[in-house]
Amino acid sequence: MAMKYRRLGKTGLKVSIVGVGTWQFGGEWGKSFGQEEADRILGRAKELGINLIDTAECYGDHLSEERIGGFLKQDRREDWVLATKFGHHFHGNFSRTDDYDPEDVVRQLEGSLKALGTDYIDFYQFHSGPDSSFDRDDLWTALDKQVQAGKIRHLGISIGANTNLHQTSAATRVGASAIQVVYNRLDREPEAEVFPSCQEQDLGVLARVPLASGYLSGKYKPGAVFGSDDVRHRHDKDKTDAKLRLVEEILLNEVPEGTPMAAWALAWCLKHDAVTAVIPGCKDTAQVEANAAAVDLVSNNHPQAWKDAERE
Ligand SMILES: NC(=O)c1ccc[n+]([C@@H]2O[C@H](COP(=O)([O-])OP(=O)(O)OC[C@H]3O[C@@H](n4cnc5c(N)ncnc54)[C@H](OP(=O)(O)O)[C@@H]3O)[C@@H](O)[C@H]2O)c1
Repeated sequence: MAMKYRRLGKTGLKVSIVGVGTWQFGGEWGKSFGQEEADRILGRAKELGINLIDTAECYGDHLSEERIGGFLKQDRREDWVLATKFGHHFHGNFSRTDDYDPEDVVRQLEGSLKALGTDYIDFYQFHSGPDSSFDRDDLWTALDKQVQAGKIRHLGISIGANTNLHQTSAATRVGASAIQVVYNRLDREPEAEVFPSCQEQDLGVLARVPLASGYLSGKYKPGAVFGSDDVRHRHDKDKTDAKLRLVEEILLNEVPEGTPMAAWALAWCLKHDAVTAVIPGCKDTAQVEANAAAVDLVSNNHPQAWKDAERE
């Protein structure tokens, strides 16, 4: 397996097509992560050629970022593309409040820089906020100042609803160069309007929740039960069962025999011309390996395929 890379739209950043999502490090997925475990996961990711990490201010109170920062103490910061987000305060598992006030966002940025142990964020994303906050010009002016100061390399938008054309179509105007959006074999809504808008603006696209919260790994059957400390315990049970029944059909009709379903599901996302990279959440090194194996199912023939002549 050799990792493949793509250009993250007009950021020009070179990113591995499979990244690592780290909501899990915050402790809302049924287990907590110590530094050593985070080191093993990210260390294995690096060995496999992964250079993209997605985190956020509110995966724990900057806790996921702290784990990444802890790992970076013994690694080369510049080898990684660090994507994090702003807009929330974490008050305990499954409890957050919004704050997109420019002064507070700058404080959140300082918190993220400190936790990550770095002096710049590669990709700083508006975190699933409402249009009323997104439409504040003073927010984007304050962020642009942080870009000018060198604390942020590129701005992005992680859209909440994956049909949010209001925010996607305004990306270039507010200075954002890439979008993060829910996209997977069970949820194709971005294909209709969001992806065409991204392509028109040359925005990078990070497909989040690419395994449909793990349901597309194929290991869960209808009736699956999750512990109360696992975010999936909060999902609507009937909807989850309907998804899991669909997964059984997909496994039967679409996944070639012998192909692990998680890798297949990630490769499925990566075949769309608009999608730059997937960021599956990983809970151990075996999942990192299984997810990285998706690259073998994806051709290099993609509009954003990285060409060596291109510069970061
Ligand atoms: N608003 C936002 O901006 C937002 C929202 C959500 C997510 N995100 C980002 O997107 C990332 C990914 O989304 P997600 O973590 O919610 O969903 P996901 O990537 O679809 O699912 C992750 C879960 O799938 C299971 N899994 C992962 N790899 C596997 C494999 N190879 N085989 C079997 N099971 C596997 C793991 O749980 P089990 O092993 O316990 O099943 C893991 O916790 C997050 O970590 C976060 O960085 C951003």
